[in-house]
Amino acid sequence: MAKKNVLFECQHCGFSTSRWMGKCTNCGAWDSLVELSEQQQEIVKLTASPTGTAKAKAITEVVETEVERFSSDDVELDLVLGGGIVPGSLTLIGGSPGVGKSTLLLKIGSNIAKQGKKTLYVTGEESEGQIKLRANRLNANSENLFLLSEIKLEQVLFELTQRRYECIIIDSIQTLYSEAITSAPGSVTQVRQITFDLMRIAKERKISIFIIGHITKEGSIAGPRILEHMVDTVLYFEGDSSQELRILRGFKNRFGATSEIGVFEMKAEGLISAKDISSRFFSKTNSQPGSALTVIMEGSRPIVLEVQALVSDSHSPNPKRQATGFENNRLNMLLALLERKLEIGLNQYDVFINITGGIKITETAADLAVLAAIISSFRNRAISKETIFIGEVSLVGDVREVFQLDLRLKEVALHKFTKAIVAKKPTDSFGLKCYEVNEVTKLIDWM
Ligand SMILES: Nc1ncnc2c1ncn2[C@@H]1O[C@H](COP(=O)(O)OP(=O)(O)O)[C@@H](O)[C@H]1O
Ligand SMILES: [Mg+2]
Repeated sequence: MAKKNVLFECQHCGFSTSRWMGKCTNCGAWDSLVELSEQQQEIVKLTASPTGTAKAKAITEVVETEVERFSSDDVELDLVLGGGIVPGSLTLIGGSPGVGKSTLLLKIGSNIAKQGKKTLYVTGEESEGQIKLRANRLNANSENLFLLSEIKLEQVLFELTQRRYECIIIDSIQTLYSEAITSAPGSVTQVRQITFDLMRIAKERKISIFIIGHITKEGSIAGPRILEHMVDTVLYFEGDSSQELRILRGFKNRFGATSEIGVFEMKAEGLISAKDISSRFFSKTNSQPGSALTVIMEGSRPIVLEVQALVSDSHSPNPKRQATGFENNRLNMLLALLERKLEIGLNQYDVFINITGGIKITETAADLAVLAAIISSFRNRAISKETIFIGEVSLVGDVREVFQLDLRLKEVALHKFTKAIVAKKPTDSFGLKCYEVNEVTKLIDWM
């Protein structure tokens, strides 16, 4: 008789082994190993290394396929998705509780339904009555929008045989479970099986599927990371429900770029595309010490932002350095540079940085503004709100030019700022007075 293959899998991290252990050697979780059935082992193999009979072709013989898309009737979501929803795609939307995942997707579901496409909203978190209340508030009622309050995958699959759906929303992946598997909802085996089944359905029947996923405090999807690898597109909400504007950022997109962000605002009628985005992240009035303005690029859009710094006496032998919306390591580097180059010693001070509006800065063009804000707070002297700082600061203290400076300056001029501090004078300054600061020491001189 053929020997049975035995495989155990850790339900926390997905580590697999042929021997049962009380403690996972990979993540250290206790009693988390579960034996996989042969069918589950098949899926593991399929998702890890797909098998098939496909033969390679010369690329010159391959005919390109245009990605087909339809609009979600929401400007910002279309933008993050790379131009609209791709039929047959599987999209994961993650975010912390209360950020507006259910609100956004119920509205999107109704937008799609109103285009005549049958849409199924599966909720494992709230009752039908609660969703109906929300639908009334969002003006999301449509006879093509169907509601299923269910946590069993098998029931969802059965529902799909009842109507020709073109879009499915799963709220949330952590509450859905398959009866074929004994492990708990949200565990690696469950999530893999469910995502695998949903992926198959999406591709076979060309149904666009959105999966909502909860996020841990650390900012990653709660439970297994394998989810991110399996789906076509991953979008995350940045920040939390305390922010006025909610930002949806693309992390992975098999059908387009991931550089764009979507900006939404929570209103009584739902989480809707924010208007006039470029002027929402700064205010020109009321200049105070510790505030400096910069302009960053978010995909194709320049956005003017306010960097705030607070430098205060520390009562601890290990002063605090804390940044929200800016990388902590980068802040430490800039502080070391201040000490070394500008002889501003901040080792007796706590330093806090905050980027207004809940945006996370992912580029280096804001370095100069961060330095300016820190110096301004340290000296308790305000910087004029007419000035924008644009520049990357290097480890040796020189200020470098940033990409797409002209687009940024144009935006700055549009908002009627008058001065820009840049690494090198641009050819076209769009009517702005540009000051060259190619070394951090010159920043002090200017200030
Ligand atoms: N009646 C209401 N008017 C305006 N906003 C509301 C109302 N009820 C709830 N909200 C907002 O909706 C948010 C909840 O959104 P929800 O979509 O349930 O989040 P998630 O699904 O991401 O947990 C709350 O943070 C709250 O700000
Ligand atoms: Mg929800």
